[in-house]
Amino acid sequence: MDDYAEITYKGKTYKLPVVEGSEGEKAIDISTLRQKTGLITLDPGFANTGSCISSITYLDGEKGILRYRGIPVEDLARHSTFTETAYLLINGVLPTREELNRFSVLLNDNSLVHEDMQIFYQNFPRASHPMGILSSMVNALRSFYPELQTVEEEINKTVTRLLSKMRTLAAMSYKISMGHKVIYPRYDLPYCANFLNMMFDSPVKPYHIHKELVKALNVFWILHADHEQNCSTSAVRVVGSGRVNLYAAISAGIAALWGPLHGGANQAVIEMLSDIEKSGGNLNNAIKRAKDKNDPFRLMGFGHRIYKTYDPRAKIMKKMCDKILKKLKIKDPLLDLAKELEDIALNDDYFKECNLYPNIDFYSGIMLRAMGIPTNMFTVMFAIGRLPGWISQWKESADDPAWKLSRPRQLYMGPTKTEFIPIDKR
Ligand code: CMC
Repeated sequence: MDDYAEITYKGKTYKLPVVEGSEGEKAIDISTLRQKTGLITLDPGFANTGSCISSITYLDGEKGILRYRGIPVEDLARHSTFTETAYLLINGVLPTREELNRFSVLLNDNSLVHEDMQIFYQNFPRASHPMGILSSMVNALRSFYPELQTVEEEINKTVTRLLSKMRTLAAMSYKISMGHKVIYPRYDLPYCANFLNMMFDSPVKPYHIHKELVKALNVFWILHADHEQNCSTSAVRVVGSGRVNLYAAISAGIAALWGPLHGGANQAVIEMLSDIEKSGGNLNNAIKRAKDKNDPFRLMGFGHRIYKTYDPRAKIMKKMCDKILKKLKIKDPLLDLAKELEDIALNDDYFKECNLYPNIDFYSGIMLRAMGIPTNMFTVMFAIGRLPGWISQWKESADDPAWKLSRPRQLYMGPTKTEFIPIDKR
């Protein structure tokens, strides 16, 4: 053991190996701690626990660094497409032109969903949230596309099916919720343009595919493509560790992403900004409420478990918002409100002390509004973007020789052995 940490408990000292990551981060391997000492570790919210070794995404929350497979997210946002980035995440390397073409053809080949799935949509109550519908539909895909013969075939086919069909399912869900005719995917269109067309084309008014919006959507989805062991990715890994099929694991990830503290924050930000606007635009009151420990109100789109500086994704998103709104000549009062709110918060002592900066969700909703995406679909947009990350993390854990069923322990603080009293004697 070259590097190790020592733990002394009741006069005895135990050595635990220290493992070093490729960027110099260090971790104490506590997997033998209970066996050696009888102790477990206690870490609510896993805030200080590394749940796996991964080679997909590197994130330095103090310096604001985010890289997929070593490549800075800024470079991918500038030069790549969502399809290419998805390939990178899932396969570990950038594709050659030929590989990318083959991947795009496969995505197009798998873009239709079984017609019978449309019947499910008709039966969800009108007020159902699109995230609940998406999670159910992705789980239902397994019934329509049963297991294939070989593990490799199963993985490759399922991955392309999911990447392609989840986008179709999302657009279909929107059209059906509007009571409009479903628009089918087109073979001649690339991934992002195809999605926008399925969302907004109609028999009465053909959709003009705007080059700038296609670029913006590529950037939006690239920025969401992976974020190491966040809540929904951990859900995918934990659920997948029971060797469940990929559809079910992704369905669990979608459900986890829905929450307003996680992916649901993009919808919550717009709702918060709209509420502030409707009640007269009093930003100082919002800041005051966010700081009041007796008030459950939080500034949505601010703060992050890992980032203690400006979220690098939020920087790109903010610039993109400005650019798109200017190009499309859209005036969104919520963008001005968001910028003002950010200024006040960044100069406030409480926000400074707690290292609370805007996260990706603070500006992303404004960009989605500019694209015409309805507010209740925002988290669905996050889910489509996060899909390559979920898939690559699931694949990495399934291929890991050190794979283990996820099964944390707990510290029990409930009643000690208690006698059962029959009902008529209680
Ligand atoms: N507004 C006001 N106070 C906040 C906020 C906020 N947005 N975020 C954190 N704090 C305070 C919190 O009250 C706590 O104060 P104290 O220590 O005095 O109790 C302190 O900052 C530390 O916060 P925490 O909740 O213990 O930190 P965490 O790492 O568990 O929380 C978070 C991370 C994202 C849940 C939280 O910052 C939050 O609720 N933000 C708003 C929701 C949001 O924007 N979520 C999207 C995250 S980015 C998308 C994604 O990847 O999921």
